Amino acid sequence: MDTDKNGGYSNSRCPLCVRYVSVVNFLFAMKTVLTTSPDEAAAIIKRGGVVAFPTETVYGLGANIFDEKAVAKIFEAKRRPADNPLIAHISDISKIRTLATEVTENAEKFIQSFFPGPLTIVLAKSDAVPYIATAGLDTIGVRMPRFKLARRFIAACGVPVVAPSANLSGRPSPTTWQAVAEDLDGRIDCILQGDPTEIGLESTVVDCTGGTPLLLRQGAISLTQLQEVVPATKSYVPNSGEQPKSPGLRHKHYSPTAKVVILDDKCEISNLEVRSAYIGVNERGEQFQITRICRSAKEYASAVFEFFRECDRRGIKTIYCETVDETGIGSALMDRLRRAVES
Ligand code: TXA
Ligand code: MG
Repeated sequence: MDTDKNGGYSNSRCPLCVRYVSVVNFLFAMKTVLTTSPDEAAAIIKRGGVVAFPTETVYGLGANIFDEKAVAKIFEAKRRPADNPLIAHISDISKIRTLATEVTENAEKFIQSFFPGPLTIVLAKSDAVPYIATAGLDTIGVRMPRFKLARRFIAACGVPVVAPSANLSGRPSPTTWQAVAEDLDGRIDCILQGDPTEIGLESTVVDCTGGTPLLLRQGAISLTQLQEVVPATKSYVPNSGEQPKSPGLRHKHYSPTAKVVILDDKCEISNLEVRSAYIGVNERGEQFQITRICRSAKEYASAVFEFFRECDRRGIKTIYCETVDETGIGSALMDRLRRAVES
């Protein structure tokens, strides 16, 4: 065993010192608190911290909307571009009044039909909402999650909680607390551990500031469902040269490191490489390293982001994803798959 000139162990080789250094590193690296208590997580929000929490769509990374320093920590932890606005999460409908100057008639109809649930409505923001949360916009997205643990946590915070998805920007949204830890452990104050999310894709976003509601992002609530409540609702398509109304749509999204290929069921795969994976609702003849057959488009949507992450963990090079019908959740799923291909 190595000793120094004083007969002691040299720092680099002494097993006790090595162990001490690793324990210190471990403690520093593990500064993210893991808890199942919404009250403990809310106490961290009240102290100006950032906390990841489960919702029925994906895990969010929350901060007190009125605390600009805390909101800035979200952008830093996620490495999120500052021009991408955040959604405010509320635990009861009356809180919308603190966030928006006016709840339009159409917004009121959507709230009655879909809150709590996977729908974000965009309204004109009140002066109390800091511009850092809305990335400089005069509007704010508001959502009331259906997941009970999320609402218990937000209620305990005592303020609306702004939260983007709790992933590093560009990565697939997290649907388990372990996926949050994979991206953000050591970068955020706390993870409120809950069940895996049910829906697995982010909320539908609808702009209710004008006379005609505009669907900005597809989610579990489809355009058809919105039109059943407000028939005039349209899908938003930016005019050529116009900046998209939903700034998030400008950014890289939902992408695993592996290449994503969308397959329609009749399409043959030429030159299938060894490290390939497949997800879809129908079996295929080829041999893949990982295969996930889902019972429905709904199950496919809830599994796809975690499947992308699992493929990255296992060094998969190409992920083949089956096309689904663009109805209901299928439209949102195809939207996310196309974005994963583009990035
Ligand atoms: O399901 C969800 O929406 C999840 C959970 C955590 O609630 N959140 C989420 O947040 O997906 P994020 O930041 O990853 O996506 C928010 C999307 C972005 O595309 C953003 O540009 C858009 O909503 N958005 C937010 N505020 C907006 C606003 N005021 N006007 C237009 N688009 C807005
Ligand atoms: Mg996101």
